Amino acid sequence: MCGIVGYSGAQDAAPILLEGLKKLEYRGYDSAGIAVLNGNSITVSKVTGRIANLCEKTADGKNCPGTVGIGHTRWATHGAPTDTNAHPHLSNDGKFAVVHNGIVENYMSLREELIEKGYRFESQTDTEVIVHLIEMYYVGDLKKAVIKTSARLQGSYALGVVCTEEPQNVYVVRESSPLILGVGVGENYFASDVTALVSYTRNAIYLEDGEFAKITPDSITVFDPAGQPIQKKISRITWDIQSAEKGGYEHFMLKEIVEQPRAIKATIAPRIKDSEIVLDETELTADYLRSIHKIVITACGSAYYAGCAGKYAIEHLCHIPVQVELASELRYSNPLIDEHTLLIVLSQSGETADTIAAMKECKKRGAKTLAIVNVVGSTIAKTADETLYTWAGPEIAVATTKGYTTQLAVLYLFALYAAKKMNRLDDETYGKLLETLITLPKRIQETLDMNSAIPNLAKKYHTTGSMFFIGRNTDYAIALEGALKMKEISYIHAESYAAGELKHGTIALIDEHQPVIALCCNDSVMEKTMSNIVEVKARGAEVLAVTFKENQKIVSLADDVIFIPKVETIFSAAVEIIPLQLLAYYVAKENGCDIDKPKNLAKSVTVE
Ligand code: M6R
Repeated sequence: MCGIVGYSGAQDAAPILLEGLKKLEYRGYDSAGIAVLNGNSITVSKVTGRIANLCEKTADGKNCPGTVGIGHTRWATHGAPTDTNAHPHLSNDGKFAVVHNGIVENYMSLREELIEKGYRFESQTDTEVIVHLIEMYYVGDLKKAVIKTSARLQGSYALGVVCTEEPQNVYVVRESSPLILGVGVGENYFASDVTALVSYTRNAIYLEDGEFAKITPDSITVFDPAGQPIQKKISRITWDIQSAEKGGYEHFMLKEIVEQPRAIKATIAPRIKDSEIVLDETELTADYLRSIHKIVITACGSAYYAGCAGKYAIEHLCHIPVQVELASELRYSNPLIDEHTLLIVLSQSGETADTIAAMKECKKRGAKTLAIVNVVGSTIAKTADETLYTWAGPEIAVATTKGYTTQLAVLYLFALYAAKKMNRLDDETYGKLLETLITLPKRIQETLDMNSAIPNLAKKYHTTGSMFFIGRNTDYAIALEGALKMKEISYIHAESYAAGELKHGTIALIDEHQPVIALCCNDSVMEKTMSNIVEVKARGAEVLAVTFKENQKIVSLADDVIFIPKVETIFSAAVEIIPLQLLAYYVAKENGCDIDKPKNLAKSVTVE
């Protein structure tokens, strides 16, 4: 939710800020702005809409001369997306500019206090209180003003601050919002994530909550919350530039769909040694795993749906109860969680506010936390007791694809690993299932290769106003994710339903205007779902079925069939979702939607 960048060096700052903002645009894209220091003045340029508008307004940065600056791309929380509400925000005396990602929870009382003291507000944002506080606390030392301001703020914030009195310096602060420093030679950077940095440097410093830093062209000094300098490790960024670019594809989403075999291989392969799963990044010992009474999985959106699919694998293999909870609900549910609970936290970004809060709540109650996260050094990765990274590489499209399937891959690895450690699986079955897991990337590649008809199916189904996704058991978990993909990028209403539940009311909605996507990849309930297909057909629905190529029976029941290769049921979700991602993509394309940046959404949901 919002992306921020900053630069201090010898080059013109504005083009570097604009390039960085383009990379961060997936985080929020309703308005944008930059502030560039030029001697003792600050040039601010802000626009409603995309970064392209900002490039146009600033003539690609040429209208904003200066070598130090900050930038912002916004996902509106407080105040509509307007030029005035766009960041950076300026102080009344014009000496300070601030960009902010996060939410200042106590902004109302701070705003009243500042108005009483005579400060004038231009915007409806929570952020504007920050720049007025800095002006109020500034007595010739920006560092002190930043410390005093931070102490007044409640909520989450990653800040970039510049001041005309210190024209080479950029101050940044991190509290519960991502912020990474880029270490260059004669120039330094900051950004909300590494994608904005990799074109310039591979050396990064990850700030912890409460830390802040002073960035100049020649130095980066990191301070603890009290203002004492601290030593920080410089980490190497391993993501390459190409993986954060479209590489010839029309959209990031399509590129990321196609990347899934590679991403899953990168996630699974390094963790298999001599035909054994080795999770030596964690301390999930046999003794510990045997001591737990239940597993709770928590996450939001697609990550939650990955948890729903993972539950089947873990319960089936480990014979331990698994509860899957929406993080936004779990955090306020007074959960029955103690030291005998393993909490698995799923998050692509590692920055989702509800997921972080649910994790902290469960930690407080004694649960051990295992994070499955894609972004290295993210808040969830750092807060969890144990972390298993998904090695998907940067995921730019707002709709997750490879982020979701690599989460499934790690859940499958965990399920098999834990089952073995807990003595719930004989060696032969373990060996066979491991073999299936290793071949998942191949099966996904075959699925991609055999589904060239999906663009044509999209032409048939794209005009509908609403559709149903039905399935049972693992197929139901996939129906949930398939419907979300369709909704978020094509804006077509899509409802996922447990196939057996239709007759308890919802079937009243089924008619010739409601196409039904029927998922039939779970052998144990396939016949049952096929009966449901017959029932919806009898009420006039067009049915598009997804099934294994061996299931030719379905051809006479459904109007259209998408075939996928046969995969062991507990791992089938990772293959079954592929055609649904493609269907959503091509339907959205038919409808002329902005596929990578759907309306009202943002990639990283750092607000509650
Ligand atoms: O970064 P996270 O995995 O924590 O994000 C969770 C959800 O916001 C995310 O999966 C969202 O539902 C996606 N846009 C779905 O494609």
